[in-house]
Amino acid sequence: MYRTHNNGALRAEHINETVTLAGWVQKSRDKGFMIWLDLRDRYGITQLIFDEERTPKDVMDLAKTLGREFVIQVTGKVIERESKNAKMATGDVELLVEKLEVLNQAKTPPFTIEDTTDGGEDLRMKYRYLDIRRNPVKEKLIFRHKVSIAVRNYLSEQGFIEVETPYLIKSTPEGARDFVVPSRMNEGQFYALPQSPQTFKQLLMVGGMDKYFQIVKCFRDEDLRADRQPEFTQIDCEMAFVEQEDILNIFEGLTKHLLKEVVGFEIENFPRMTYDEAMAKYGNDKPDIRFGMEFGELNTVAQHKEFKVFNDAELVVGIAVPGGASYTRKEIDKLIDWVKRPQVGALGMVYVKCNEDGSFKSSVDKFYDQEDLTKWAEATGAQPGDLICVLSGEAFKTRTQLSALRMELATQLGLRKSDEFAPLWVVDFPLLEWDEETERYHAMHHPFTSPKPGQMELLNTNPGDVKANAYDLVLNGNEIGGGSIRIHDKETQSKMFDYLGFTKEEAQAQFGFLMDAFQYGAPPHGGLAFGLDRLVAILGGQETIRDFIAFPKNNAGRDVMIDAPAKIDEEQLKELNLKITL
Ligand code: AMO
Repeated sequence: MYRTHNNGALRAEHINETVTLAGWVQKSRDKGFMIWLDLRDRYGITQLIFDEERTPKDVMDLAKTLGREFVIQVTGKVIERESKNAKMATGDVELLVEKLEVLNQAKTPPFTIEDTTDGGEDLRMKYRYLDIRRNPVKEKLIFRHKVSIAVRNYLSEQGFIEVETPYLIKSTPEGARDFVVPSRMNEGQFYALPQSPQTFKQLLMVGGMDKYFQIVKCFRDEDLRADRQPEFTQIDCEMAFVEQEDILNIFEGLTKHLLKEVVGFEIENFPRMTYDEAMAKYGNDKPDIRFGMEFGELNTVAQHKEFKVFNDAELVVGIAVPGGASYTRKEIDKLIDWVKRPQVGALGMVYVKCNEDGSFKSSVDKFYDQEDLTKWAEATGAQPGDLICVLSGEAFKTRTQLSALRMELATQLGLRKSDEFAPLWVVDFPLLEWDEETERYHAMHHPFTSPKPGQMELLNTNPGDVKANAYDLVLNGNEIGGGSIRIHDKETQSKMFDYLGFTKEEAQAQFGFLMDAFQYGAPPHGGLAFGLDRLVAILGGQETIRDFIAFPKNNAGRDVMIDAPAKIDEEQLKELNLKITL
């Protein structure tokens, strides 16, 4: 037996017991006649003591040779500590070592395995297995496990069945590029790794599974950001004989359960907002509603004077920054520079200081009087002491820019508190979105999403106005999940492919299997998928999902630990009938 207890287990009640522990050497203090050593494993740390007078000499000598991260096994007697450490679970006791065995030696780790380490991101990723020994990383993985288990239990109790779907499939167009896998047995042909199990879960509904879920890896070859990884995990769900309301209720229930069980946060019903409302109020389809700063549209109160910039704009829109009237000229200039950065792209920013005495001082005093500015304050909800920031231009772009500014200011003002949770359903998404690059409409969610009842005809006249039975769950300004009620008859699905610019042959070749299935009694169905990595990160009070993934990829999509992706050898290429022409 390697150990009788783990390193987080010993308490005062164990005093005088002889126990065996195993673990890693965290650190040691060698006073010559006495050595103290912290022994660590996943469960905690136990202090070991080697004492010249009470420990055998060979053990004492061996103890002096131990380096950081050596793997050892010790046997000894639990004794009461002279100076107790209330901060440690095992702080009342220590182990007086009688036997010591070195199970494995260790090179000096390239960074300190402490809560606060001296290792930079790249180094820690290269030696991720050492990083995982550190509490902050280890705890995040344990936290993720807790969330996953809670999800499985909840859905299972609600009658959902977990079914695994294949990873080697055919492309499903869901917005991103596919990762492809060459087939050796089918020369010149490729599998694609699933961007999601979308079509399979729909086929499971045709198969009568009724309530399906899966905690499943998905693969998307897209540009990476803090909340995106090329392989990530979804809590994927589908239900038959349901309407949107049924789905929202079940998954609101799941989210409430997780908030309560995992972070102890209780909340009544989740607010709902249409996509149009979210865009108008926050310039964003995933608004962070932990704080206000709602948009005030100023066209009617700003386009009646000689200020050409505003008069020429499709939209003039502002937000009130709480307490911003006290910003110095320098601070305001910094904000202006911030919105003018290429990543945001505004041409400039007009501002109004709302003085405590009720008067206003603006950067456009030449054009607007106090009466005008009073109306701006009303429209943005600005109070004395606030600063109104105003952007103008093409409507969608301007909203997006102001949304970026709103988030930046909220971060600066500390309004995005990580221990507060503000979930929100965004509903009634447009069915289609215009793609500038291809100059075509694309399905905003995916091509299997059904339009709202009675809107199919609108597709012929005003495709951009058609709303879908599609919904997103937003948590603290992050898109946690999304789904829709699906098309379940062949004719509508086929029409949808037409509208999306597929030829009949393309649609048949790519999705014939689904449309065929719809002819064999497909029930009405719908579902959604949560991003598990994002959900876990936000419940954990953070927004970078990488920290909650055991072996994540870096920003260039590389695993720097195993050094992937990598070249394959000539033999393999030949076997696959592939030629690299670089
Ligand atoms: P969607 O594409 O909206 O829907 O994905 C669902 C959720 O998955 C998460 N997500 C990601 N997380 C990390 N890295 C990524 N690259 C990444 N991409 C997406 C997000 C997102 O809300 N089949 C549909 C669901 C359905 O209609 O049922 C789908 O995949 O949190």
